[in-house]
Amino acid sequence: MSAQDLPSGLGRPWRGLDVLVTGHTGFKGGWLCLALDALGARVHGLALDPPTTPSLFETADVASRLARDTRGDIRDAALVADAVRAARPSVVFHLAAQPLVRESYRDPIGTFASNVMGTAHVLDAVRQAESVAAVVVVTTDKVYENEEWPHPYRERDRLGGHDPYSASKAACEIATASLRASFFGAGRHPARIATARAGNVIGGGDFAPDRLVPDCLRAFARGEPVRLRYPSAVRPWQHVLEPIAGYLALAEHLLGADGEAFASAFNFGPDPAGDAAVGHVAERLAALWGEGASVARDTDGGHPHEAGTLRLDSTLARLRLGWRPRLDLDAALALTVDWHRAHARGEDVAALTRTQIARFLECGG
Ligand SMILES: NC(=O)c1ccc[n+]([C@@H]2O[C@H](COP(=O)([O-])OP(=O)(O)OC[C@H]3O[C@@H](n4cnc5c(N)ncnc54)[C@H](O)[C@@H]3O)[C@@H](O)[C@H]2O)c1
Repeated sequence: MSAQDLPSGLGRPWRGLDVLVTGHTGFKGGWLCLALDALGARVHGLALDPPTTPSLFETADVASRLARDTRGDIRDAALVADAVRAARPSVVFHLAAQPLVRESYRDPIGTFASNVMGTAHVLDAVRQAESVAAVVVVTTDKVYENEEWPHPYRERDRLGGHDPYSASKAACEIATASLRASFFGAGRHPARIATARAGNVIGGGDFAPDRLVPDCLRAFARGEPVRLRYPSAVRPWQHVLEPIAGYLALAEHLLGADGEAFASAFNFGPDPAGDAAVGHVAERLAALWGEGASVARDTDGGHPHEAGTLRLDSTLARLRLGWRPRLDLDAALALTVDWHRAHARGEDVAALTRTQIARFLECGG
């Protein structure tokens, strides 16, 4: 279906729509592809191979739900242009990125190349493609200049970033805003482009290194205590399906008759109760896992800088998109533990993943 045939107004425009997801082999991208498939979209993917073994992509059999699975590097502009041309998408969700703070200290140049130039390549490819009507660029809660404020960050707060990952995502926001202002809208390319800033997501199938929930579940499965680097750091935790519902709602609004009005930045964070210290989340996970799972402090020291407090204000998404978080922190942790327990028992997590998505969508996600 082409952009010209799109239904006007809101609702669920996904059935039969061609959608390109970059980063489809990753954790959030895999969940997004399966949610789009459940809504009836024809999903095309562009990414490097899955970043971990195991991965959500393989265990949940995301490949079987794709119309096209292109493997390639978004640092290669020509490759990105070819992939967009081949998919002829109406909507692009751009998630492909180097997403880890610690890896960004190890490889700052690669992180900036993927996260900034990779995004510029995607938007430039969109500029060359008539089919695209809406683009959601996924950044992060870490795009804000962290002032260690106790109050949550709003979309108009200053961008910045201490570590290379955060800075690369803030730069991605600036590049996106520049390309949007320079080449899209009002008599130019009609695609509407928005950015989405979400907090720390949790859910089944995240096997990334140096992330709290995967670190906990790996340690518990080995029967060892998990060692925490920053137990008192406060983060906005939410189940992966929450921001995904936000990305979908944002794209639906971009596709609407007044979509231009939504071509800006939106936060998607949890309710204030979802803002919790790392130590609290690890203790709750240990309790849900059972079997004597326990938490200890990592006293090694020498860890790179990470922000102490980070909260997001999602009032704009609530008021303008009608989005709201649906799962409290305990429910999100329970879904995650259910998934990883099933995986550890060798059960069919592809079916479980689709069931979790179907239930979430049924409750209005
Ligand atoms: N997981 C979180 O808590 C979180 C929080 C906020 C924002 N995000 C953002 O969400 C997006 C997805 O993160 P994730 O947690 O699923 O990460 P992930 O590591 O599981 O997936 C990253 C995806 O990007 C692809 N990729 C990386 N570099 C690439 C390149 N140069 N060319 C092509 N593909 C490349 C990988 O192959 C993979 O498909 C990222 O943009 C990340 O910054 C994640």
